[in-house]
Amino acid sequence: MTVSVGILGATGAVGQRFIQLLDGHPTFEIDALTASESSAGKSYQAAAKWRANTPIPRDVADIEVGETHPDAVSDDIDLLFSSLPSGVASEVEPKFLEAGYVVSSNSSNDRMAEDVPLTIPEINPGHLDLIEVQRDNRGWDGALIKNPNCSTITMVPTLAALDAGFGIERADVTTLQAVSGAGYSGVTSMEIIDNAIPHIGGEENKMETESRKLLGEFDGAELSLHDAEVNASCNRIPTLDGHLESVFVDLADDPSPAAAREALESFPGIDLPSAPDQLIHVFGDDQPERPQPRRDRNRDNGMAISVGGVSETPSGLKYNCLAHNTLRGAAGASLLNGELLVEEGWI
Ligand SMILES: NC(=O)c1ccc[n+]([C@@H]2O[C@H](COP(=O)([O-])OP(=O)(O)OC[C@H]3O[C@@H](n4cnc5c(N)ncnc54)[C@H](OP(=O)(O)O)[C@@H]3O)[C@@H](O)[C@H]2O)c1
Repeated sequence: MTVSVGILGATGAVGQRFIQLLDGHPTFEIDALTASESSAGKSYQAAAKWRANTPIPRDVADIEVGETHPDAVSDDIDLLFSSLPSGVASEVEPKFLEAGYVVSSNSSNDRMAEDVPLTIPEINPGHLDLIEVQRDNRGWDGALIKNPNCSTITMVPTLAALDAGFGIERADVTTLQAVSGAGYSGVTSMEIIDNAIPHIGGEENKMETESRKLLGEFDGAELSLHDAEVNASCNRIPTLDGHLESVFVDLADDPSPAAAREALESFPGIDLPSAPDQLIHVFGDDQPERPQPRRDRNRDNGMAISVGGVSETPSGLKYNCLAHNTLRGAAGASLLNGELLVEEGWI
C-alpha cells in the first residue's frame, strides 16, 4: 500500500525534518511540497535553505514547491503534514479541511479545541475518535489531528507511565530547551551564546494545558482533562537540539525509585513504522549525569524518550527526561500520528 503525502511549510526547520524522516518510508510517498509565496514555483532545492545533517534526498530536490492553498495541491493526496507558523496555519488549515484533506499538524493553533484530537500514539490513540465529533461540529469532510508542543511531548510519556502505576496528582517541571525549537531565525546567536533565557513566550501555558488533555479521558462524546495540576517553568539554553526537563511529581501512591524506573521502562510502545521499539529508556543510579542532549537525543532515530536521576523527595519523586525536539517533538510526532491514522483506517 502506498499513501500519497504532502507537506505544508516544507522548507522550514520542521519541514526539513519531515523530508528526512520520510526518505525511505515504507508506505508514505511525498507528492506535494508547499511553502510561502516567495518559495512557490522554485525547486525544493532552490527554495529550502537546507540545514539538516544529511543531503536533500534526490527524489525530493527537484520537486516544484507549490503555494499553500488547496487549489494548488492535487486531490489525490491522502494525507497532509503541516509545519506552518501557527498564525498562518490557523487561516490555511481550515481551507484544506473544508476541501476534504486529512491534516496531521504540528502548529499550535487548535491544539486545545474540544473537537480536535491532540495525540501521541503510544499515550492516547483512542482520542482519534474525536474526529467524528469534529466532522459533526464543523461539517468538514477532512480531519484535523494535532501533536503537542515539543516540550510537552518530552514529559508526557513519563507522566503517563507513572500515572498508570501510581496516580499523578501534581507535576512541576523546569525545562532547558534547545534553540532549534524556536526555528532557524527564532533566537539570534548574540542572544543565546554565553547565556540562558528564562522565558519562552506561551510555552509554559502549552505544557500546563496540553499535558492534561493528553492524559484526559474521552467517553465517545466529550474529552475531560486529567485532574493533575501541572506547573511549568521554561528556559532556552544554547544547545542545538534536544530538550532536557527536570520533573517533580506528587503521586497518589508512594513508589520506590526502583518501582518508578520499572514502570517507566516497561511502559508499552506501539507497533507503527516510525515508533521506537522501547518508548522510554531509563538510566540507572550508576549514571546520574544522563540523559544529556548531545549524547542522548538521537536514541532510536530521535524518537525515544530518555530518563535519568529518578530519586525520592519528601513529597514524591524527581527525575530528568529528554527528547529530540524537532524529531520526537515535531516532525516525528506528526509522522507517527499519520501512521496511526492509516493503521486505524481513517485514511
Ligand atoms: N522547531 C520546533 O522544534 C517545533 C516543535 C514543535 C512545533 N513546531 C511548530 O511547527 C511550525 C513550524 O516551525 P518551524 O520551526 O519549522 O518554522 P520555520 O522554520 O519558520 O518554517 C516555516 C515554514 O512555513 C512556511 N511559511 C511561512 N509563512 C508562510 C505563509 N504565509 N504561507 C505559506 N507558508 C508559509 C515557510 O516557507 P518559506 O520558506 O517560503 O518562508 C516554511 O516552509 C510552527 O508552528 C512551530 O510552532 C516547531
